Amino acid sequence: MSRKPFVAGNWKMNMLRSDAEKLVNELKPLLEGIDSVDAAVCPTFTALGKVADALAGSKIMLGAQNIHTVEKDGAFAQNGAYTGELSAEMLKDACVSWVILGHSERRQYFGETDAGVNAKVKSCFAQSLKPIVCVGETLAERDLEQTNAVVEVQIRGCFAGIPADQAKECVIAYEPVWAIGTGRTATPQQAQDVHAHIRSVLASMYDKATADAIRIQYGGSMKPGNAAELLAQPDIDGGLIGGASLKAEDFAAIIKAGVK
Ligand code: PGA
Repeated sequence: MSRKPFVAGNWKMNMLRSDAEKLVNELKPLLEGIDSVDAAVCPTFTALGKVADALAGSKIMLGAQNIHTVEKDGAFAQNGAYTGELSAEMLKDACVSWVILGHSERRQYFGETDAGVNAKVKSCFAQSLKPIVCVGETLAERDLEQTNAVVEVQIRGCFAGIPADQAKECVIAYEPVWAIGTGRTATPQQAQDVHAHIRSVLASMYDKATADAIRIQYGGSMKPGNAAELLAQPDIDGGLIGGASLKAEDFAAIIKAGVK
């Protein structure tokens, strides 16, 4: 089963609009001619417009880092009295095609739950947005050898009731919490083991063909120096890149490491 690698930059709460535009303008020529790896950048909400304009005509896709979901009368509200929030329809209107959901920082600081992510996945599909669903264990959970169990609960919760044809369109990012922004990367074997486990959970929820179609990114201190060996693993289909996505050369080098 061949899955096209997908590398996305999670800019988190970084980059003013002018910095964002500059980064994208540096990135575009570096990625010219690279067709075998999908690439996306996920800026802050305030930079989305600038980045969308800068990306016009390029194959680099645009993502957002969160979405607000409210179910009302059996549908997802796309507007209303929810101060400070943005709906799926608004993101689509801003040229977004991907949305990062359930990042561990959102789980840790903003109380995001698997059930909440599940509702957000559904609301993304209602507006033809595609989710990047993040899962991963803490260091304490890994030390207690709970990694597989923790990740399985997250996957089952986030994908509950999502039909196979939509699940195939989702991307999963396996991001061990202890590796995010710490400079401490999972070894290729550690990451591969969890990716293979995630794929087996998906096979038991759906079927093998569906599990084989879903792209699973690795995230957590991925950088030019370690990208190639991570991306060479059979179940690692790309990366969700934080720190290293803020420099055009580094982000481009990671994407190039995914070219087969
Ligand atoms: P990092 O972040 O690459 O800075 O570790 C990854 C992420 O949080 O998505």
